[in-house]
Amino acid sequence: MSGTPSIPLVLVLLGMSIGCGRPPDFERMRRQPRLDPYEASRVFSDGTAMRVPPQGTVPHAAGTSSGPLTTGLERGSPIRDLPLPITPDLVVLGQHHYEIFCAVCHGAEGSGRAVMSANMPGVPPPSLPAARMAAYPAGDLFQLITHGKNRMPSYEWALPPADRWAVIAYLQQRQQASAPPPGSAR
Ligand code: HEC
Repeated sequence: MSGTPSIPLVLVLLGMSIGCGRPPDFERMRRQPRLDPYEASRVFSDGTAMRVPPQGTVPHAAGTSSGPLTTGLERGSPIRDLPLPITPDLVVLGQHHYEIFCAVCHGAEGSGRAVMSANMPGVPPPSLPAARMAAYPAGDLFQLITHGKNRMPSYEWALPPADRWAVIAYLQQRQQASAPPPGSAR
């Protein structure tokens, strides 16, 4: 390209050079009219800014039962099958969460090959559609996602129970899809 630069390009370059010269305005963000954690406050009668949840409050994502739906366990043992119907919507939701939280280590295809796993010392993230995974009881997978294992972190904070089951529904569906048809030679 040669000749005079276009007017929009000149305006963009001018804007960038003005913006670069100015220090970022963090002070304006620091001085917000807000109460910080542990700060004293005259707004509330107990004199503190932090609020205590009303008695009997439970986090809505955690659920209130200690049954198979929220633990993956029945009388202390992992349940074999999903405790809720596997619908196409559940599988789609599970894929969505898998791609956000699991693919970074286990790979988008579940092959165990990903940037993170290539740079991880110790036991690498295994391939998930493998036959061994298909034999994994749903309750064990639920416990694994809830608590993590060695270098695999817990996802309890990120995935409420219903979303953990969705990920498991997605994994099981993929394992079934990749398994050879019944009766075929292995
Ligand atoms: C930070 C990387 C990382 C992320 C993210 C991650 N995993 Fe893992 N995962 C691992 C590692 C490492 C192992 C091997 C743990 C071991 O056996 O020491 C593993 C093991 C597993 C296993 C096999 C466990 C066993 O008993 O052999 C399954 C199944 C699994 N992960 C599923 C998931 C699912 C589902 C998610 C998303 C909710 C997830 N992982 C997210 C790193 C990760």
